[in-house]
Amino acid sequence: MGSISRRQLLKAGGAMGALGVVGAAAPTWAWSATQSVAGLGGQTPPWEVWDPEADPVVAAVIERGETARVNALLRGWTRNGQALPAGLPADLHAFLEQARRLPEWTDTRKLAAAVAFNERRGTYLGVSYGFVSGMMSTVIPHEARAVYSSKGGADMKRRISRTAKFGYDIGARNAFRPDGSMVVTAVKTRLAHAGVRHLLPRSAHWSATADERIPISQRDVLVTWHSLPTSVMRAMKAWGVRISGAEADAFLHSWQVAAHLLGVRDEYIPATWAAANAQAPQILDPVLAPTPEGIELARILVNLAAEVDGGALSRPLLQSMTRHFLGDRIADWLQLPRNPALDGGLAASWPAFVGLKEAGLLLPGSDHLSWAFDEVLRLGALWYLGDGQELHIEIPDRNNPN
Ligand code: HEM
Repeated sequence: MGSISRRQLLKAGGAMGALGVVGAAAPTWAWSATQSVAGLGGQTPPWEVWDPEADPVVAAVIERGETARVNALLRGWTRNGQALPAGLPADLHAFLEQARRLPEWTDTRKLAAAVAFNERRGTYLGVSYGFVSGMMSTVIPHEARAVYSSKGGADMKRRISRTAKFGYDIGARNAFRPDGSMVVTAVKTRLAHAGVRHLLPRSAHWSATADERIPISQRDVLVTWHSLPTSVMRAMKAWGVRISGAEADAFLHSWQVAAHLLGVRDEYIPATWAAANAQAPQILDPVLAPTPEGIELARILVNLAAEVDGGALSRPLLQSMTRHFLGDRIADWLQLPRNPALDGGLAASWPAFVGLKEAGLLLPGSDHLSWAFDEVLRLGALWYLGDGQELHIEIPDRNNPN
């Protein structure tokens, strides 16, 4: 994978670890479950919980040698309202029937309002999912190490495209409706994560660098969750985007439902923005740090479009966008070079674009137009990243072999 050898990465990891750069600060869990969608909960901190329903079922599928057959069957399961394919192992079938149910606290009016918000704010959401959340994942040490060492780490283009599918499906007009795909996408992601929990502890690279026994705890999922809706909302507010309370709540709700479908316990899912904004500084902000794996993943990401233009424009543009949207501290951690002309251009043009858009000075009807434009862009990006192949989220059958 890439230009840095595994030996070099391990050495660099050791050096950064010695400097105390790698690894999260010892966590404390002071967030009360009364702030959660469940409204109550136990005392168990989320770093002591993984996915007790999905993990044994997926581990058994892998151990029985059924991964390829199950993945092939699940390719035909794409719509929320569709029956499960025949022939799945009984334990997996039973789990999926349970896991695909929307939580009882689902508010369909809010989900409909979230669709309207996604349409109206598509441009901002596209930019922030990519350059706020996406690039932030490379400075979340547990995630960067897990992704680097897992099967998908060997082919980041495929991996990113399947992750982008999550962002695409949650923003689609029919996301959680029977003809949409978001329930399927989230539940398949839950299966993929359960597979990673079973396989990654066998990875020599992961075991040598990780500071946890089993990857992807509920805390880890919450950290990544905050890198998505919480960071996106923070970014849009910082840019001066006007968002009503009802719109913000609707957007949050779509992500609350997604968290539930990903297997996060209701007692950890923030019920309100106030609750989310109280949780994020406890678990997201303190863990952000560079790792050799994250630096390497960021290098791969900014080079993703290089096969189209040789990287002459796309590489510096992606570097500058990361620097602009995540700031100098993170861009420097990721060792992304400065591109003075582009950096300056973005610093001037993005606020101007937002200012005009918010003042309603872009063309009348442009909200719908720009949503249509985004839709083409998003589909195009998914198609490009997936090399024109259909995208399927699957249970991994091995770790990164490199
Ligand atoms: C797989 C999304 C949290 C590590 C995936 C996939 C999606 C996804 C869509 C499937 C991609 C594929 O098949 O390649 C999410 C979302 C999260 C989340 C929405 C939280 C809200 C995490 C966390 C970690 C993690 C916290 C690690 C600490 C991985 C790994 C894979 C994966 C290693 C498997 C890639 C492979 O080898 O195939 N995730 N993820 N994810 N995720 Fe997550």
